[in-house]
Amino acid sequence: MSIDARRAEYLRTIGIDLWVPRPGPVPGGAARCAGELPQAPQPAGARPPGPAGDAEAWQRLRAEVLGCTRCALHQSRTQAVLGVGPARCDWMVIGEAPGAEEDRRGEPFVGRAGKLLDAMLRAIGLSREANVYIANILKSRPPGNRDPRPEEVQACLPYLHRQIELVQPRLLLAVGRIAAQNLLGTDEPLGRLRGRVHRFGERNVPLVVTYHPAYLLRSPADKRKAWEDLKFAREALARSLTGS
Ligand code: URA
Repeated sequence: MSIDARRAEYLRTIGIDLWVPRPGPVPGGAARCAGELPQAPQPAGARPPGPAGDAEAWQRLRAEVLGCTRCALHQSRTQAVLGVGPARCDWMVIGEAPGAEEDRRGEPFVGRAGKLLDAMLRAIGLSREANVYIANILKSRPPGNRDPRPEEVQACLPYLHRQIELVQPRLLLAVGRIAAQNLLGTDEPLGRLRGRVHRFGERNVPLVVTYHPAYLLRSPADKRKAWEDLKFAREALARSLTGS
């Protein structure tokens, strides 16, 4: 199947049947990788892993998170869920917290919402196996999937900051109100945070906000808006890579 046919299929999966191919290379892809790994064709946004010390830093972080008792959620979780994806890449998706399936399997976004997220990401050439790192604000499941409490977010955020330092993403995609508001330190509604390029942290990483895939499962009419957000994020990354 051709790449365009595959994209059309992913878009149909997420409920969108329109695909307009963009001219030129995929932002963050060939041009960037060509300088770094001339002989190795890489998926867009993939990057070589960081320096050797990073592997150790990841191991330490994983061990710390898996054994974390900083908030009461450690008492009810099955296991903590750190994140998934390449050790270093251009795209990083940030959700809210593990749900029941994630708590059971130890990986973020593996339930129904995760399947939709994967399909949306695939439609712009991204996958957790190749070129996007996926994490959550909270590493432990809140019972009954209630909203995270401020003290839980405060306890857990340093882990996410460490992940961002290690992955060195060039674009953050916050999915859902909880992720967006906590990353941006605002209580503005999600609708007002969409469609803008925010900046995150000392490195001013571009941050784009979109709907949570669990919300899109309940409100499929908004899938088209989420697709617009993804294209907007892709353009924001392209602009940031070219400095335009
Ligand atoms: N929802 C989230 O925000 N994160 C997950 O990992 C799963 C569902």
